[in-house]
Amino acid sequence: MTDKMTVGVLASGRGTNLQALLDATHDRSYPARVVTVLSDRQEARALQRAEKEGVYATYIAGTGQKWEEQAVAKLKEHEVKLVCLAGFMHILSPFFLQSFPAVMNIHPSLLPAFPGLEAQKQALDYGVKISGCTVHFVDEGVDTGPIILQKAVPVEEDDTPDKLADRILAEEHKIYPRAVELYARGLLVRQGRQVKVLEGG
Ligand code: GRF
Repeated sequence: MTDKMTVGVLASGRGTNLQALLDATHDRSYPARVVTVLSDRQEARALQRAEKEGVYATYIAGTGQKWEEQAVAKLKEHEVKLVCLAGFMHILSPFFLQSFPAVMNIHPSLLPAFPGLEAQKQALDYGVKISGCTVHFVDEGVDTGPIILQKAVPVEEDDTPDKLADRILAEEHKIYPRAVELYARGLLVRQGRQVKVLEGG
């Protein structure tokens, strides 16, 4: 167990991406395990999902620096090496980002298109024919960090933001566990904005 990469997840909502990560860890050969889930919302379903699987989960009240200080302390207490944002609704400061070797996020568009909130609605309003999802390392900007994996998803003529979101979400659930696996196996090499996936990945 101890040779697996320790992952901490920050989630504000329903937690289906967290669930995808938890499901991946059921495979004994998966090289990472989720050890802590933190939320800024007491009612976040993500917390229940973690507890159901016996993973330490807690709500931290407040916002801003105080929230981050408590979160960093909890994550370090559990020796977290990789932090995964999964529907976490706050921008993290350099203090938080510099506290861990890596922080990843999943976003429901093909970045750099449509960063920020309501990415699926932004895509429909713009009229693109293809959208998708992106796993990226987190930097100090909003959805601007180096891209790890992306998956394209077609936009249908009669799409609504919800229908498109569901189609994208199904792919999110595949590429997020895959990106974590690649990182945990040491198969991601960062060179500035470029993230290379080494052979064998
Ligand atoms: C996902 O669409 C993710 O890409 C975005 O927020 C949503 C979270 O969904 N960052 P869930 O809580 O993982 O179900």
